[in-house]
Amino acid sequence: IQVEDFDLVIFGATGDLARRKILPGLFRRHAAGQFPQGARIIGAARTDMDDAAFRDDVRAAIAEFDTSRRDSPELPGFLDRLSYVPIDARGEGGWAELRARMRPGVVQAFYFSVAPSLFGDLAERLARHDIAGPDARIVVEKPFGRDLASARALNETLARHFAERQIYRIDHYLGKETVQNLMAVRFANMLFEPLWNAHYIDHVQITVAETVGVAGRGAYYDQSGAMRDMVQNHLMQLVCLIAMEPPFHFDPNAVRDEKLKVIRALEPIPPADIVRGQYGAGGAEAGYLADAENPDSRTESFVALKLRIANWRWQGVPFYLRTGKRLRARTSEIAVVFREPPHSIFDDTGEPQTNQLVIRLQPNEGMNLKVNIKEPGPGGMRLVQVPLDMSFAEALGPDGTDMPDAYERLITDVIRGNQTLFMRGDEVEAAWAWADPVISAWESGSARPEPYDPGTSGPDQALGLMHRDGRRWREIKA
Ligand code: BG6
Repeated sequence: IQVEDFDLVIFGATGDLARRKILPGLFRRHAAGQFPQGARIIGAARTDMDDAAFRDDVRAAIAEFDTSRRDSPELPGFLDRLSYVPIDARGEGGWAELRARMRPGVVQAFYFSVAPSLFGDLAERLARHDIAGPDARIVVEKPFGRDLASARALNETLARHFAERQIYRIDHYLGKETVQNLMAVRFANMLFEPLWNAHYIDHVQITVAETVGVAGRGAYYDQSGAMRDMVQNHLMQLVCLIAMEPPFHFDPNAVRDEKLKVIRALEPIPPADIVRGQYGAGGAEAGYLADAENPDSRTESFVALKLRIANWRWQGVPFYLRTGKRLRARTSEIAVVFREPPHSIFDDTGEPQTNQLVIRLQPNEGMNLKVNIKEPGPGGMRLVQVPLDMSFAEALGPDGTDMPDAYERLITDVIRGNQTLFMRGDEVEAAWAWADPVISAWESGSARPEPYDPGTSGPDQALGLMHRDGRRWREIKA
């Protein structure tokens, strides 16, 4: 379905995120025929160049980051939509020019693909130069603050010039197809929701494992660490979608109200329920300290923790979360592990195992429900666990493999004016309020993260977190 005519301004248009994700994503939506004749994209950055040079740069970015489409016949039509205005977020030049380029009567969106320290400058100048109309939308990236105080300050700065309904805070995990599928699976089927509570679920485990290290972005990462970089935002959003009550409608505020209630119900984490790790060197590969170029760093590249949600639905059901860099495989999944049947009628059961619903976020997106059946053969009633396995790509055919990238989906939602998959200001603040005490305890203490070997599943202490509860992590494998 086509969106309305729009003017989309990308501040930081020559930066890494714009070249790697935003512009190639916009190109794919263009190639899919989703943009009307009157859709325009205006790049803005400090570099002094003209429209032609910007188009060349975007062509090069698409060739680099979407190699399959570098020779696409659609490319010239896309480049025709682009123009460029040199602007310094803290200077005065270029703003009048930008104002002159904006057309009345079309959707206006401003993507702040710049350091958060510039958000205030951009918002203030857009207002002062009367560039953004009352329905204009602004899109801001993470990191949205580095603690509660800075996130609040950022929200206040933006609120000086824009209403909440105009602010789109991106968490790209919410743009992932499988993440949205969590809501479809839960709320469009009768099969799962009646069992989705402490009576039937033993625990939930969420793993977001990466094989990459932090080389090349150490300056950012070392100030951040896994807790700020992944847990406070991406993993928290996954927890919310798994744990929230059914919203009354798939509507931005209805969904976000329910997510906020989950975050507010999180119990503080005792130190014994959290493990942080830092990868060492392995083979020819450098360890974290060298990658981060900080030999004394105490920043964590791995976190595992046990979370409790203090409400009726989740009373006594732990959520185990872990995420880290340089682990054995790149895999993200959520496993909902059910309780044992209340009574077993079989004597020789073989290896009885509990049911599990595993939702694979990436790679090979899909779902797998583990059920117990009778092992075939005359030997009596022995049980065996088999997977009801569904790969979305196989189940949905060619359409299922053509999953839009998270950014494509989210930018289209901005133009459509749909905030459902964006974080509200109060949600971000609540997530920081939960994460802050953990991080400040680390920062004020002198303990170091536990070392772990690259290519493993993280420090042994993380395994211990589950073992001591008589449970086990699922294996991290590709
Ligand atoms: C980003 C983090 O937000 O998410 C990165 O800053 C991380 O450190 C990335 O690698 C993971 O995203 P994805 O989509 O590859 O799972």
